[in-house]
Amino acid sequence: MNQDELKTLVGRAALEYVIEGSIVGVGTGSTVNCFIDALAGIKERIAGAVSSSVKSTERLRGHGIRVFEAGAVESLPVYIDGADEIDHQGFMIKGGGAALTREKIVADLAERFVCIADASKLVDVLGRFPLPVEVLPMAVGQIQRRFAKLGATATVREGVITDNGQLILDVQGLRITDPLAFETDVNQWPGVVTVGVFARHKAGVCLLGTPEGVKTLRF
Ligand code: A5P
Repeated sequence: MNQDELKTLVGRAALEYVIEGSIVGVGTGSTVNCFIDALAGIKERIAGAVSSSVKSTERLRGHGIRVFEAGAVESLPVYIDGADEIDHQGFMIKGGGAALTREKIVADLAERFVCIADASKLVDVLGRFPLPVEVLPMAVGQIQRRFAKLGATATVREGVITDNGQLILDVQGLRITDPLAFETDVNQWPGVVTVGVFARHKAGVCLLGTPEGVKTLRF
């Protein structure tokens, strides 16, 4: 099975976690696109979705699925999203699609985070994938110097402005052995909007697409 087939597989498998009659939290990315397409098949059985990006909103609406504003919803039973990396505790790096801030906001509304990913995303230690950090333009130089002190290199993602009108730094050279402490620390740096480590909002379940089928990891 190739990577696209694995994404389709886990996108479909995630339907099992959708609660009948509820509003579903929907993430962003190519794996989530497979989930959205699968969700279209059961759209009569859900109340709608809260989306984490303009792109996912457009795809949901394209399928005739109602999209609610995050602020209009008190809580969600489940949030389904992909990841750039996930470790064996359910901690993740996200933001490869630049939607990390809205993803964290929607994840925060949810009782359960279901991560859907192909097997290449599973790692022992987070940091091989360049860590996305959404930042205010004024603080870019300052934040780059802070990462340099940690031995890492933070580069502005060319040509990308987030849905929130901000910039993305991609940080290479990190080895994140304590994701909770790292997330807490970087979130305090002035000018950081959101760091792409999802430790406080980690996955509860990961549906991992493997050539042998979907493996369910529970954390
Ligand atoms: C979007 O900002 C990201 O957090 C995605 O969830 C992540 O990049 C995974 O995307 P793919 O499913 O396209 O690999």
